[in-house]
Amino acid sequence: MVVQLISRLPLSRSGVSVALLRSRARQLLRLCDRADHALGVVLVDDAEMRNFNRDYRHRDSPTNVLAFPGPSGGELPAVISGETPQLGDIIISIDTARREAVEQGQSLHERLTVLMIHGLVHLLGLDHERSEREALLMEAREKELRQQLQENRRGKMAHLAVNVDHVATVREARGIAEPDPVQAAGICELAGAAGIVVHLREDRRHIQDRDVQLLRQTVKTRLNLEMATAPEIIDIALAVRPNMVTLVPEKRQELSTEGGLDVIGNRRKVEETIQRMTDASIPVSLFVDPDMDQIDASRDAGATFVEIHTGRYCEAPPGEERDREFTSIAQCAEHAFEQGLRVNAGHGLDYRTTRRIAALDTIEELSIGHAIISRAVYVGLERAVREMLDIIRHSRDFPG
Ligand code: PXP
Repeated sequence: MVVQLISRLPLSRSGVSVALLRSRARQLLRLCDRADHALGVVLVDDAEMRNFNRDYRHRDSPTNVLAFPGPSGGELPAVISGETPQLGDIIISIDTARREAVEQGQSLHERLTVLMIHGLVHLLGLDHERSEREALLMEAREKELRQQLQENRRGKMAHLAVNVDHVATVREARGIAEPDPVQAAGICELAGAAGIVVHLREDRRHIQDRDVQLLRQTVKTRLNLEMATAPEIIDIALAVRPNMVTLVPEKRQELSTEGGLDVIGNRRKVEETIQRMTDASIPVSLFVDPDMDQIDASRDAGATFVEIHTGRYCEAPPGEERDREFTSIAQCAEHAFEQGLRVNAGHGLDYRTTRRIAALDTIEELSIGHAIISRAVYVGLERAVREMLDIIRHSRDFPG
């Protein structure tokens, strides 16, 4: 299946996740039994749309969507050529989609999806301008595809892995036994978390060796041990055998993990650690910045997962800058997924920033700690986890 999604507008300005739309286009091709076809989707502004509408339909105004069945023979603006049978190209005006989204009370991505479906149904041969009967048929088919797409997403939500480091941070502030991250982990699991994450730091500032050993015995879901590539910690991981390890950079002075792992710069050490874990059947995830080269290096180093660092996205002020960070996460997640890596994401995610990331269906698991443990102070841990799960669960029902 080939889906080529081209935006002729700067993505940071459009606020559109190309990865999300591409993934929806792929699902739609599958739902229409056209998985073996190529589809082009081009996002343009109103000015360019007006040109298309004038040149091909003799209507001198912009419109929301146009569909050009392929192969075009070079006459029409086909974006894909090659051996694969071509379904055609769908041209969508983001400007019009944005206006319609406001009018219809829909999110921009929801509107773009509705328009993509409309274009696709045209490419499948239906036309609402030929007869009323065909218009009704077309409307019914579009509605059915929208529902199927929603059901697909509902059935597949990202997992939530809760990082309980900060329960241990509070305990260590007093140097006594409470609160216990091991008990906290049990509550998170009962509330629906699919995994527990702890970072055993070399300075043991929060999680202690005892915690990791007890968690190994008590965690019923999956235990993900975050760690640096330090020899002592590697030995502990090999002895404890968590369900997976996530390699992170570690600096003594930092409050929390700051940047992603430089897989390219530390290639030998990372590869050696992956090899030792692989020999012990422990899958390895590499915590990396949203950077294509680091992702390629992770694949080459033999990682099973990458965890994409969401810190910059979460820290960016809402608006253009955050949209830009989001787009780069979405593109990197898509790229990693296409490279055969399993994709997690985390760092800094909270009750506002999680929805968009959880909506990316290339992402398998979110690792969230500070926001959940902070909220637990006010509403209790079980409710804090459930509230986050609700956000994740609904994120794929057309995210904003
Ligand atoms: N992922 C990694 C690799 C981390 O180092 C951390 C912080 O410990 C997290 C996720 C969770 O970040 P936060 O506590 O900000 O949710």
